Parts: sequence; structure tokens; C-alpha cells
Amino acid sequence: MSKGWNGRAPAGRIAYVDGRYVAHGAAGVHIEDRGLQLGDGVYEVCGISNGAMMDEEEHLDRLERSVGEIEMAMPMPRNALKLVMRELVRRNGVRDGLLYLQVTRGAVRRDHPIPKISPRPSLILTVRAVAPSELEARRKDGVAVITRPDERWGRCDIKTVQLLPNLLAKTAARRAGAYEAWLVDGQGLVTEGSSTTVWIVDAKGELRTRDLSHAILPGVTRRVILEAAATAQFPVLERSFTVNEALEAREAFISSATGVVPVTAIDGKRIGQGVPGPLTRRVQELYVLTSAERALKTGS
Ligand code: PDD
Repeated sequence: MSKGWNGRAPAGRIAYVDGRYVAHGAAGVHIEDRGLQLGDGVYEVCGISNGAMMDEEEHLDRLERSVGEIEMAMPMPRNALKLVMRELVRRNGVRDGLLYLQVTRGAVRRDHPIPKISPRPSLILTVRAVAPSELEARRKDGVAVITRPDERWGRCDIKTVQLLPNLLAKTAARRAGAYEAWLVDGQGLVTEGSSTTVWIVDAKGELRTRDLSHAILPGVTRRVILEAAATAQFPVLERSFTVNEALEAREAFISSATGVVPVTAIDGKRIGQGVPGPLTRRVQELYVLTSAERALKTGS
């Protein structure tokens, strides 16, 4: 159980978590909850005015849609959920404020694809009071804004737990009988796998992987492979490639903390001879050797 808040709990005194009304400071979900681990969840925020829910049906319509779009089930029927919402507002004695509602896919051993057997979704509700005077002042005086580039979510270089698009792509791959999904940008260039770095040995025999930018995660394994390849004097090019270039490549592979894995087919089409290629095999060996050497040096 949590140690409790530092005296500045942002929500009401009582929360609702998975069927129970619990003290806010002691409320918690399992550490393997997919909402926490992978951002695999959806939410709504509903205004409370004079003790009544604002635009409740519209919020619940959108919640049901969001839940359906990511292939989750509603944790309970709408009428039951409305009762819980009302009861939570009542227990917290909130007349004006906000109700926060989150549904996640639930707790299960961490793995990207949507689990074949659905865990029980987690349902979390909190309520907080907002003084009508605070809202009134804002509504009366207005506010300033700034502009920012819309990067939702263009910062794939940050290893965030916001992995919903990744896990949906991985699920699509598994359903298509593939292991991984390669993600392709607006220009038809491959960025990376849903949880891996992508590589090809191009038609000229050069080892190629996309250059670092906001578009990909700077893979640790990628870096070690690049180092090893430089030492072994392989021709290496950090330049993006199209799906067609990948289809015409001699070899392809993926890399991540789980190792170097040959790719033998893309979208059902064979790469090279349709079997792991010789350079990929060499990279697998070099990677294992190089990271073992590094571990010895750092004593880890
Ligand atoms: N994934 N790109 C993405 C989107 C990843 O999630 C990962 C790793 C990689 C490879 O990075 P590294 O070589 O540092 O593991 C690239 C981990 C294994 C995961 O989410 O399970």
C-alpha cells in the first residue's frame, strides 16, 4: 500500500478502485497494470456543478467509444457506472469540481501485444473539488495562451511508457502471424519496430539503420552494434530506407535488449533467400561479444 500523500493530495478523500471505495492516500493499482506499464488505457473528466454531473451521457458515450477503439470492454454497465460516479461524489461531499475516470486493460505480465485472455480492466475514479470562484475568475478575466509545435506524439526518442500505438501495432503483427510490426512514416520510410530498432543489409551490402532523430528511440543495442560494426570495418550507413528498399535488401534484422533477430519476411514477402543472412549472423555474434566485453570492463 502507498505511504500516503505528503499532505497535499490533489483529489478528494475517497477514491474508487476496482470495486471498492478506498481512502485516497491508500488507493493503488497493481504495478503490472498495463495503464502504468504501457499507457494502455483511456479516461474521461466530467465536470460537477451543484452536485450534478455535467454532460454525463456525452462523456460516457466518448468513454465507450474510446474503450471500443482499443478493443477493451467497459468495466461495468453504464447504469452501474453512473451509480458509482454519484456515490463517489456523495462520499466526497463535492458540490462543484471534477470527476476523473480511468479504465485500463488491467494487470498482466508486461508484454506489448493485447493479451489473448483479457485481464480484468482496472477502473479508477477520483473526485476533486474546485471552488466555483476559481472557475468564475477565469471565465470572467480570460487567460493567455502560447503556441507550441503539435508533437502529440512526435518524440519517439523519449523512452516513455506512452506505448498505446506501439502495442496496437504489435498486436496487429501477431494477428497477422508476424513477430514484429515495422512502422512507416508519411514519406514511406521505415522508422523503427514497435519495440525494436530496424536494420537492413542493402542491395550494395551496406549495413543500414535509420539515423537518430525525434522519430526513433536511440536503441542501446543499436549503439553497441554500430560500435562493433565499425571495429569489424563493416560498411555502415545511418540512413533511413523505404519499405521497397527493405524488400530488395539482402538481409534484414531487428535489435533490442532482447537481442538481434533476423527478419526473413516483410508483409509476406521473402527477404533475400528467406533465411537468416550471413551478415546478420555475424552481427549477432559481434553483439554478444561486444556487450560481454563491455560488461567485463564496467564490472557489471
Ligand atoms: N524496447 N525502439 C523501440 C520503440 C523500443 O521500445 C525498443 C526497446 C527499441 C530498442 O532499444 P534497446 O536496444 O535499447 O532495447 C527500439 C524494449 C525491449 C521493450 O519495450 O520491451
